[in-house]
This record gives sequence, C-alpha cells and structure tokens, in this order.
Amino acid sequence: MRVIVCENYEEVSKEAAKIVASQLILKPDSVLGLATGSTPVGMYNILAEKNKAGEIDFKDVKSFNLDEYYPMAADHDQSYRYFMNENLFNHINIDIENTHVLNGLAENPEKECDDFEKMIDAAGGIDLQVLGIGQNGHIGFNEPDDFLYANTHLTDLTDNTIQANSRFFDKIEDVPTKALTMGIASILKSKRIIILASGENKRDAVTELIEGEISTKNPATMLKVHKDVIVICDKAAYSK
Ligand code: F6R
Repeated sequence: MRVIVCENYEEVSKEAAKIVASQLILKPDSVLGLATGSTPVGMYNILAEKNKAGEIDFKDVKSFNLDEYYPMAADHDQSYRYFMNENLFNHINIDIENTHVLNGLAENPEKECDDFEKMIDAAGGIDLQVLGIGQNGHIGFNEPDDFLYANTHLTDLTDNTIQANSRFFDKIEDVPTKALTMGIASILKSKRIIILASGENKRDAVTELIEGEISTKNPATMLKVHKDVIVICDKAAYSK
C-alpha cells in the first residue's frame, strides 16, 4: 500500500484527479469505480475542469458506483444517482448510458446486485476504483461486522453511518437504514484502488487502515491484501 500525505483537502483532490486523469490517458476506455460522499467532490470538480480543457476524455469511459441507498428513488436529491449526475456526469462528456448506479427501488434487490456484478465483469472489470472511508472504516457500505460479504448485496447501515450521513437530510429519521453496496471482493477485484481521506474525523480509520491488522471490524483493512492500493490523505487525517 502506498500512502500519499497531502497538506490539505485541495491537494488530496489534485493528487487523486492526477491519478484518474493518467488512467484515462493511458486507457481511454477505462472502467471506473466511483464513490459518493463529500470527499471525492473536489476531485470530481478538477476532473470536470480537465475534461472541459480537453486534457481528458470520458467519451469511451464506463463507470460503476459503489452503492446506493435502499429504498431510494434515482431522482431523489439524496440518491447517489442524483449526486453523481450533479457532481460529475452532467459536467463531463461521458455517455450517461455508460454510467451505472444500483437501482435503489429494485423490486428484487438480490437480482439487481447479481446483474450489477455481471455488468462489471462484462465490461472487463474495474480498472481504477475510487473509495472514501467511513469514520468506522467502512468502504462502500461494507460496515464493521463479524463477517463481510464478498459480492454486491443489500445491507443494513450502522447507527454510526446513519448519524454521519444525517448531515445531508432534514432529520435523522429520513436517512435510509439500508443500502445496496458492492462487496469486499467486488472492490478487491479492481485492478487499482485509490482511497481518499480528509479531516481529523477520519484519523482513527486511516490509522487502522495503515497500521492495523486486517479485521472485519475495520473493512478498509481488507485493502491490505490488494497489490495496488494508494491511500491519499491530508495531514489532518494522517497525523495520529
Ligand atoms: C460513498 C461510500 C462511502 C463513503 C464514506 C465516506 O459512495 O461508499 O463509503 O465513501 O462514507 O464519506 P465522506 O466522503 O462523505 O466522508
């Protein structure tokens, strides 16, 4: 695992955008795995600027998002589909048909998850997966537990995650208690992974990720078995 420690959030965003941009330059039809949340927003803004400036092209890119709340309509302003459209897809030249976000209203969530895995495989697998990290060490919505799921699945969110995500909703009761998420193996199948972290509230999770033992109680530590993971964090998230 390589660790890049940046001065601040802006630098984290720039470093991450540099890696995504290089990926697209080397392989214009890359398959990207994408995350929502506050952390990648700066990176998405830079990628949109680079696209506008003609430095990178998303014409042949495919994307798969890590997760979606369940139940959640795609056009709800807190859905991850809505988030991705607003923060990235509407600002770049990606073909929206090539962007895949799990359907938060799927009648048969199990089938939705199986189909999603198959679509990733059919696309040739994820070349570069972008991750954030939860304060409790979750990646995607793989929450700390006694065991973790390998494949994309429906899961319960922990109180910690519901609390952390309530900042985006009017009241905590509005935060969905379930989500569809890629599993640990779905994430580990990616050829390269970058995991972004910023701010003091991520310090414990980042310390565990870098120094801790592999444990289902900190799902991010599972990344230690992957041969190409880059942690990009700022000093506030690293200094412990
Ligand atoms: C989002 C996701 C989550 C977030 C994590 C950090 O698609 O899968 O694991 O990456 O909750 O969220 P932020 O960046 O808001 O701190």
